Amino acid sequence: MKKHIIEIEYSEVDSINNLSNEDAYLVAKAREVANNAWAPYSNFLVGAAVELENGKVIIGNNQENAAYPSGLCAERVALFAANAGYPNSAVKTIAISAFNKKGHVQEPVKPCGSCRQAILEAETRFEKPIKLLLDGANSIYIMEGIASLLPLSFGKRDL
Ligand code: THU
Repeated sequence: MKKHIIEIEYSEVDSINNLSNEDAYLVAKAREVANNAWAPYSNFLVGAAVELENGKVIIGNNQENAAYPSGLCAERVALFAANAGYPNSAVKTIAISAFNKKGHVQEPVKPCGSCRQAILEAETRFEKPIKLLLDGANSIYIMEGIASLLPLSFGKRDL
């Protein structure tokens, strides 16, 4: 039997002020648009801001539904809107921010499994890694691609 160990890599800053201007803008946007989430069932408001290679910034927030599985996470709302509106522009970066009843979450918000898979698809589609900015009040994680969140992924190459 062989044992394999996979390492993942990410950086961390303790404040939005320690990000580049471009990344800080995107995180600020994700924070702002979380306010417009439709999350009356979970009261967990998530905002996402996607920066495309053409310079456009597309936003999303979670959209819940009384029939719970019919809702969608902020990341996929933003990514699908970006790919729908600009099918030829690669996704450069996605910033994600979340607020619960107590306010801005302390630890960086982590995308769910389905969103990780959707981010992988957006990377594969344009053959370019997507930078992830996972925002929290205490720290912000920076990842250079979805492989940091979804190692051993299933994708196009496996078909
Ligand atoms: N949610 C997101 O929108 N993104 C995440 O990264 C985590 C979870 C949403 C789904 C649901 O509306 C609520 O947060 C609680 O799970």
